[in-house]
Amino acid sequence: MVEPKEIPLMEKIVSLCKRRGFIFQSSEIYGGINGFWDYGPLGAELKRNVKELWWNTMTRQREDVAGLEATIIMSPEIWKASGHVATFSDPMIDCKTCKGRFRADQTNEIPCPQKPSKLVSECHGEKTAPRAFNLMFQTYVGPVQDDSSIAYLRPETAQAIFAQFKNVLETSRQKVPFGIGQIGKAFRNEVTPRNYTFRSREFEQMELEFFIKPDEVIEAISGSVATVPETGHPGEPQPDWGWQAWHQYWVEERVRFYEGIGLDRSTLGFHRQTPAELAHYARACVDILFKFPFSKRDEQGNVAGDELEGIAARSDFDLSQHARFSGKPMGVFDDELRGAWGKLPKEKQDDLWKRYYDNRKNYLTKSGVEAEPASKQATEDANGLAKGQYIPHVIEPSAGVDRLILALIANAYSEVVKTDDKGKSETTFVMKFHPRVAPIKVGVMPLLKNKPELVAKAIAVRDLLRPWMNVYYDDGGSIGKRYARQDEAGTPFCVTIDFDTLGEKPELLDTVTLRHRDDGRQDRLKISELRDWLLERVR
Ligand code: GLY
Repeated sequence: MVEPKEIPLMEKIVSLCKRRGFIFQSSEIYGGINGFWDYGPLGAELKRNVKELWWNTMTRQREDVAGLEATIIMSPEIWKASGHVATFSDPMIDCKTCKGRFRADQTNEIPCPQKPSKLVSECHGEKTAPRAFNLMFQTYVGPVQDDSSIAYLRPETAQAIFAQFKNVLETSRQKVPFGIGQIGKAFRNEVTPRNYTFRSREFEQMELEFFIKPDEVIEAISGSVATVPETGHPGEPQPDWGWQAWHQYWVEERVRFYEGIGLDRSTLGFHRQTPAELAHYARACVDILFKFPFSKRDEQGNVAGDELEGIAARSDFDLSQHARFSGKPMGVFDDELRGAWGKLPKEKQDDLWKRYYDNRKNYLTKSGVEAEPASKQATEDANGLAKGQYIPHVIEPSAGVDRLILALIANAYSEVVKTDDKGKSETTFVMKFHPRVAPIKVGVMPLLKNKPELVAKAIAVRDLLRPWMNVYYDDGGSIGKRYARQDEAGTPFCVTIDFDTLGEKPELLDTVTLRHRDDGRQDRLKISELRDWLLERVR
């Protein structure tokens, strides 16, 4: 591997983000705070659009997903059950010379303290032995600060979904297979935050936990589990889908989502985790990667990319852990299973019973339960099949909002060199956001600022569109300068109110010039058709 050469491009992006108000360093007037970033006016709109699209796609437009909004601080027992208290750590070392603290696996280059987007060589002083550093931010709840009041800022939104699984199931009238989606802040005290907003200490996640029937249950009900190819979309969900089909389905659904907001498949990469990389309870995990300017390239110049989202098949590990730690049952009752089980031949019952028993026993012993109680519990669990009971398995598409915002910004960034009549060249920037995510959907401009009739009409057009989309009204400077400002903001369309709008050419009365950002093309559109024309493209 050689290190990336596009650091200058990353620096240009960082500079544009600050200059145009996409992203600012948190607490900048006090010198900043490493690993924390604020979104300015354009960044806030971009982020809001992305989250809204995820929410709409993943919950509102589906029959089989319900939403949740849980607290950031939860019972610390949740993090014991999830394994985060015991194992959510990175290996950390200290430098005895410069007193710096680093991740043991990332010591050759670290983010520059002055310019975090830039990597600098690290001091070669003597290092301490690596030790585990838990990434959860710790705090205290209530006025007494002792071990009994310790709590954590959540390091992922997923666990609240598992903890509230039964409440959502009972109140949403959903039945397995179904999902619970959540968007929210998460916090990880990264030893070395890096690559601008890519690895931040405070960030946002969009997570879906999609609960499915174990394969043994599908086999009992449907006779067999569907086989699907390892690549390509497997189509509409079917009752005989096991975990592999559901996993493949969610990988492809998520790729469609990215394509739908302007990230072409060629900008993405895929990494199927190897058995050695998988968590012990996981059956598969596919990471969707984006080829960032800072992503490493191999000797041939190929870029794999860095992770935007992981889609994991997590078996029944999470619900089982919460059942054990809370003492509350997390299983479901399934009418279809109960009806089907009694009709199965004895050999089939025995086969399914044994496979379910083995999986449960395997989980229990790996989780530290002694052999005898593990056998007893696994027997009880497998006996539940005949009564229509099982613990759902889960497929988890987990996406990072901030990473996606950075990917969209990097993807949109383009430079245009313009040469005037005198041969003087000027570089301008165009942010080619997909209209769906663009922070401003349309710029509205009177051709001249000092003509009250033009201004009044432009304000009327602005007010007509405003309830439906984010509109930016601009009457300052030449029309060329105003278009350039909107190009830098990534506004896909601009509308200009000119003398023809007022009826100078009677046949053009109440029409406007509509300018397209990416090719500068101009159309004439009736004001009465403007709203619907725009809505079709920006939603
Ligand atoms: N829930 C998975 C993650 O936070 O990465």
